[in-house]
Amino acid sequence: MATSVQTNTDQVFQRCVAPDCGATYDVGEVRTSCGTCGGLLDVSYEWDRLDVPDSLRWFEKKWARRNEPLCRSGVWRFHELLPFAPPEKVVTIGEGQTMLSRCDGVARYVGLNTSVGMNTGGLFLEYEGLNPSGSFKDNGMTAAFTHAHTIGAKRAACASTGNTSASLALYCGVSKLMQAVIFIGSGKISYGKLSQALDYGALTIQIAGDFDDAMQRVREVTEQLGIYLVNSVNPFRLEGQKTIMYRVLESLDWEVPDWIVVPGGNLGNSSAFGKAFMELHELGLIDRIPRLAVINAVGANTLHELFEVRGQRWNGGQIDHQTTAKFYDEMNEQNRRASTIASAIEINRPVNYEKCLRALDICDGVVREVTDQQILDAKSQVGASGLGCEPASAASVAGAKMLRAEGIIAPSDRVVCILTGHQLKDPTATVAYHTTDQEEFNRVLGSRGVQRAEFANRAVAVPNELDEIIRAIQLNS
Ligand code: F0G
Repeated sequence: MATSVQTNTDQVFQRCVAPDCGATYDVGEVRTSCGTCGGLLDVSYEWDRLDVPDSLRWFEKKWARRNEPLCRSGVWRFHELLPFAPPEKVVTIGEGQTMLSRCDGVARYVGLNTSVGMNTGGLFLEYEGLNPSGSFKDNGMTAAFTHAHTIGAKRAACASTGNTSASLALYCGVSKLMQAVIFIGSGKISYGKLSQALDYGALTIQIAGDFDDAMQRVREVTEQLGIYLVNSVNPFRLEGQKTIMYRVLESLDWEVPDWIVVPGGNLGNSSAFGKAFMELHELGLIDRIPRLAVINAVGANTLHELFEVRGQRWNGGQIDHQTTAKFYDEMNEQNRRASTIASAIEINRPVNYEKCLRALDICDGVVREVTDQQILDAKSQVGASGLGCEPASAASVAGAKMLRAEGIIAPSDRVVCILTGHQLKDPTATVAYHTTDQEEFNRVLGSRGVQRAEFANRAVAVPNELDEIIRAIQLNS
């Protein structure tokens, strides 16, 4: 059952995304779906009754007040664009101190203009691995956590492929406001992420199953025990994730790029980005909307299958749900499970699917699927550029390369790929790719259909003798 706390903020409410339903709920209600039709919920604002700046440049004045936590946070310095919580209730740990880097090495790999010679276009990496827990999740967690705190929650839970759980565990550990209860699939989470949850003290429930199983269970358990759910079915999560796009615009001196390319798992990010651009456009704060590319792994490609192969569309909110149901039935019959080296996006039943269809509609979007080989090759290029990311993040770069090869992205386009998670989240895949040890390569990557490591930077093995060491360095320099 939904619980409720009345608030005074009558300019803010929750609303069902299905236009033919449009049921509304108080901002203080805790719910993850519409009580009338079961659809997803948005946080909605009556903008004309709220103080909204008339230019995005207005936010620059907050830079001078970086000593104030709400101005320092890369999420809350945009508070006016997610004004659902009173400032004194905001729980922030300085999330969103991220950077956007122009990256010529990756531009060359993708086939885009570089800054040398051509000044147009280019490839930019939005490095979300710089967040306190090492992934973009902190953008959404500070928002959902703030809402949970506002309504007095004492426990918060999520199912996770590892990053949401690390983020929740971190916010609980730092603030001591709530206990974290996390659900993970057994053997489905990288050690970097598991170590975070354990170290930060989360109650960690490892269930015999995968993320899709864990997601189903956490919904049942939170409902039964009245625990606050922070997965991205929680509409407040997505409010925080909108700010990734605000920071991209900020870094580009408020110019809208041509493309945003993002990996797709549970489809929270893509949904949040669509809402961000829809609102900015409605508010007259941007004059055009970038195109969105959402990139699935081949082994977890529900969005690609439904959108690109079976042609499902947002269609003004009149989604043909039978197409989805039929595909899900087929997956059940074949007992098909998500499977990819990019464990963060190893998801077959994305909870934000309908919202993502809306985002693709708003942003004239496309969806692509990339193989684990393409993901790891792209990841090595990101690493060689000096930033580094986890496998799922590199799906964005692999997808951009594919769209460039198809001619859908032009060489002169300005393309922003979102690097969703830090390189150190999943060192196993990275070391296996670069390893000299064929057995290790086969064990970790061979089972995923990865045949070769074209860009491997192999360690040079030498005996412990000075001459041999010097010779090895001279031979390889
Ligand atoms: N990249 C990383 C590093 C992620 O951790 C996730 C999702 C995604 C991409 C996909 O983002 O769900 O917004 O489409 N990780 C979730 C988790 C599912 O539990 O940590 P999405």
